[in-house]
Amino acid sequence: MKGIVLAGGTGSRLTPATIAVSKQLLPIAEKPMIYYPLSVLMLSGIREILVIAKPVDVPQFRRLLGDGSQLGISIEYAEQAQPGGLAEAFVIGADHIGDDPAALVLGDNIFHGPRFQDLLEECARDVDGCVLFGYKVKDPERYGIGEVDAEGRLVSLEEKPRSPRSNRAVTGLYFYDNDVIDIAKNVRPSARGELEITDVNREYMRRGKARMVDLRRGFAWLDTGTPESLLQASLYVRTLEERQGVRIACLEEVALRKGFITPDQCHRLGVALGASGYGQYVQDIAAEFAA
Ligand code: DAU
Repeated sequence: MKGIVLAGGTGSRLTPATIAVSKQLLPIAEKPMIYYPLSVLMLSGIREILVIAKPVDVPQFRRLLGDGSQLGISIEYAEQAQPGGLAEAFVIGADHIGDDPAALVLGDNIFHGPRFQDLLEECARDVDGCVLFGYKVKDPERYGIGEVDAEGRLVSLEEKPRSPRSNRAVTGLYFYDNDVIDIAKNVRPSARGELEITDVNREYMRRGKARMVDLRRGFAWLDTGTPESLLQASLYVRTLEERQGVRIACLEEVALRKGFITPDQCHRLGVALGASGYGQYVQDIAAEFAA
């Protein structure tokens, strides 16, 4: 399975912070935001990843993440000139996906919860159609909203409905079979001029091939769209990290635990990170694994 992180958009609700820096590079706790969705793809077992960003931002992402080989993965980059919609990721990423299934994660979505890795690995296996992840929210009119039957099959899906039929938001993580490329290419721009991911998902629903898995209570799907939610996300992550002495979305740790890199490689990455607490943590994890 191939992965795509969509990290474009204007970040207009976060100006002036986003005038010179991409939203997805702003820090959540001490990590650039993109670490969180990137770690989700890695936890799913995906090692070939395309980062799509605004042309002006691609060099910064490249500076941060390189070609991914230090993490035992491959990272490529592509440009999205204008925010033409989430489904455009599959048009831009068609060559990257090739004949494989694909996962898309939005570069500003933060997920954290129990047994998440198991759930991701299970959902990424043998995708036939699409797998969406639902999350109960109290403001459903802000999201794509889905309803499922007793088997978890999607039976209704609406984008930002005025009168929502459920409170299950469709989160920004999607697994698809290879049909997604053709489906996305055939989607027409919506009233707001975008290729809507919801239209792609509705096509899968029409074919009876859309599933939505519930992320239950105890799971965190955090918003980063406003200055308040950005701060709350940082505080949430930091609170857990301080309390448990672990790091959330530490890419070096994920790479090590997945077997993408050796403890020795991990140690060297930690040393290269210098004197930061994060760098020390990477070294400590490497030592723990080597023991
Ligand atoms: O976050 C989940 C929601 O994401 C879903 O519930 C909705 O169904 C889905 O349409 C989308 O909702 P939004 O319309 O609120 O997405 P937004 O335009 O805020 O874009 C989400 C992120 O993707 C944001 O960081 C900007 C980035 N983006 C957006 C567009 C439209 C791109 O990189 N390129 C784009 O073309």
